[in-house]
Order: sequence, then C-alpha cells, then structure tokens
Amino acid sequence: MLDRTQTVAATVLDHSECAAIFQQHRIDFCCGGQQSIEAAARAKGVDLEALLTELGRAIDERRGGGDDPRELATPQLIERIVAKHHQYLRKALPFVQMLAAKVARVHGDHNPKLPVLDVAVRELAEALGPHLDEEEHDLFPSLTAAAPERARQATLLAAMHQEHLAVAKLLERIRAASEDFTLPPWACNSYRTLFSELQQLEGDVFAHVHLENNVLKPRFDA
Ligand SMILES: [Fe+2]
Ligand SMILES: [Fe+2]
Repeated sequence: MLDRTQTVAATVLDHSECAAIFQQHRIDFCCGGQQSIEAAARAKGVDLEALLTELGRAIDERRGGGDDPRELATPQLIERIVAKHHQYLRKALPFVQMLAAKVARVHGDHNPKLPVLDVAVRELAEALGPHLDEEEHDLFPSLTAAAPERARQATLLAAMHQEHLAVAKLLERIRAASEDFTLPPWACNSYRTLFSELQQLEGDVFAHVHLENNVLKPRFDA
C-alpha cells in the first residue's frame, strides 16, 4: 500500500502508471506535485481510500514494466523530452487550435462555453509555442554546456517553472470550459475529436512538465 503522506510528484516518479489516475481525478502531479496524496485528494474531494486502492492496483498491474527517467543522463533525458513531448505538441497544437475554432464557430450558439474554450486553447498554443522554443534554444543547451554558467541556468530554470504554472492554469481553464471533457449527446465528430485530443494533450503536457519540473530541474537546484 502506498504511503498517503508521500508527495504526488514522488509517487509518479516511482510509479509512472499513477500519472493517468491522478489526471482522471484532476490531481496535478507536475506543478502541484509537492503536496501529499492525502492533501491532494482532500483538495479535489476525492475519496482517499478508493484513490489509494486504485493507485495500488495500477502499480501491481505494471510491476516490472516501464523504465525510470531518473536513470537517464541529462542529455538523454532532454532528448526524450524533445523527441517525445515537444514533437507531439508541435503537431497537436495547430490541430486542436483549428478544431477548437471550428467547433466554436459551428456550435457556439448551442453551447456558449465553446467560444470560451476556443480562447483558452488559443492562449495555450500561444504560450506553449515560445516555451518549447526557449527550452530548445536557450535552456537545454545551457544545461548541457561544456562550461556551464550556473547563474544563467538558474534564471532559465526559474522562468521555465513560472511558465509551467501559467500552462497549468490554462489547462484548468480548458477543463472548466469543456466541463471535464463532457460531450453532449448531439456532439458532432469534430466536437468529439476536439475533446479526445484535448484530454490526450492534457495528459501529455502533465507527463512532460513532470519530467522537466521533477526530474530535470532538481539536478540543477544546488
Ligand atoms: Fe518542454
Ligand atoms: Fe517546459
């Protein structure tokens, strides 16, 4: 059984299969990951015992599988972040932005939250695009430089962390405007695709930010 006083971030570090379960319960494990499982469950009104059982079951199912990102050297960790998560976002963001605009245009009269969702998705894309560029062009090269400049690394890491908090806020707005990705019975294919893409995007961003905040950043927090 998991220790309920352990932090959410540490739980996902030890057991990546717990990420999806925290996401389902709207528990943030990347930016809000420093709270205990107990405190996080309380804050979201989630039954703690049921959550611990669910997490325990996922851990048992996955036991032995999956690798540990903490064992990767920093250049390999960065390579994984870029190849997996940055590449994904560069493809997914224009697509969801297009879908959000279309669904808002066609069904906005029917559901006034759709234009609100469209704005939040656009803001997310506008925040994440430059964020990925900064990481790839400034932060990551600085972290792997042969002659590291510690002060510059610290400044860039602090900026990264702040931007992640802003991204988490935008994801919350997307959750709220989509009512937790709940589809009305009349939702068309675009509407359905938008919500499933957004839910996938949320999960991927959480996993991505978790690697940067909780695996990469602590290596440089002297
Ligand atoms: Fe990133
Ligand atoms: Fe990031």
